[in-house]
Amino acid sequence: MVLILSRSFGVKLLKYKTNFTQTRLNSTGKLWFGSKKVFYRTLGLLATGTGIVIYTLDQAVKAGEMELHPPRFPWAYKGIITALDHASLRRGYEVYRQVCASCHSLKHVTFRELVGVTHTEAEAKAEAEQQMVEDGPNEEGNMFQRPGKLSDKFPPPYPNEEAARFANGGSYPLDLTYIILAREGGDNYIFSLLTGYCEPPAGVTLKEGLYYNPYFLGGSIAMAPPLFSESATYSDGTQAHASQLAKDVVTFLKWAGEPEFDDRKVMMVKCLGWFIVGSVISWYWYKMRFMSNKTRKFVYTGKSSTKKPECSDKCE
Ligand code: HEC
Repeated sequence: MVLILSRSFGVKLLKYKTNFTQTRLNSTGKLWFGSKKVFYRTLGLLATGTGIVIYTLDQAVKAGEMELHPPRFPWAYKGIITALDHASLRRGYEVYRQVCASCHSLKHVTFRELVGVTHTEAEAKAEAEQQMVEDGPNEEGNMFQRPGKLSDKFPPPYPNEEAARFANGGSYPLDLTYIILAREGGDNYIFSLLTGYCEPPAGVTLKEGLYYNPYFLGGSIAMAPPLFSESATYSDGTQAHASQLAKDVVTFLKWAGEPEFDDRKVMMVKCLGWFIVGSVISWYWYKMRFMSNKTRKFVYTGKSSTKKPECSDKCE
């Protein structure tokens, strides 16, 4: 590329631009070939090695814990430049609305955020209107219920934590907005939790109202298995198997926790592009322009002493 540019502009782009005679032997770069360079290299290697050891130890099986670690699933959005699957997001919203919303709130999400992500504006408005939202106080000082608007947050299923606990045998169905970020394993964990209910192994007895789930810390969870095949219906006709429902609702929860996910990836691609262009420019400038300044040396030679001063008559 540089050659093409140099030909078209008639400039010798690949030649050092030297304004002064330089003594390359005594350049500042020479310092780095001494012990300092070896020291920094060793330091770098040691730091990398320690990092790898710490990471490996952290990944190792922790045999002391009594829960199953979730496997890694090939989520479509895990690629470097892949976005969230918006058809799956829409289905995930349907699963949340039809199943999870009866116990779990999603209190940091507003209906208008659905516009352009899972629904059109008219559809999102219709979704909001189907929910009753508390508003007020009115002129009599009372709170009242009204159909939702686009600017409303998703209404919670219970008015407060006590009511939620009372309805769920003392356990609290927590808000799901940031659950993907809040749990180790994130999407893999939630998917495994939703699909991982099974019979308790021999020797394990569960208290009344608890269910066995090996992915949950301790094994016994107060949430009844929420997803079965056909426990929600999809508007796009997709077969509602339990694993399909779980995958879609997890994708939806991923978006709920990180609504900027797609924008962030687009920004990353843009930044990467500019980074590459910037790197090429700075490499060119460094090697072809700056290097001659960095390595140059000024030498003071003084006046020539061989030439005798010219004598006039007064000299003697
Ligand atoms: C009948 C009520 C009910 C329904 C429906 C329900 N949950 Fe739960 N959920 C609970 C309760 C209660 C807990 C608390 C469990 C505990 O602490 O033992 C819980 C806990 C959870 C947790 C937290 C697990 C953890 O690591 O702490 C997640 C995640 C979750 N539910 C997801 C869902 C999803 C997704 C759906 C919809 C597909 C759903 N739940 C449907 C009642 C429900």
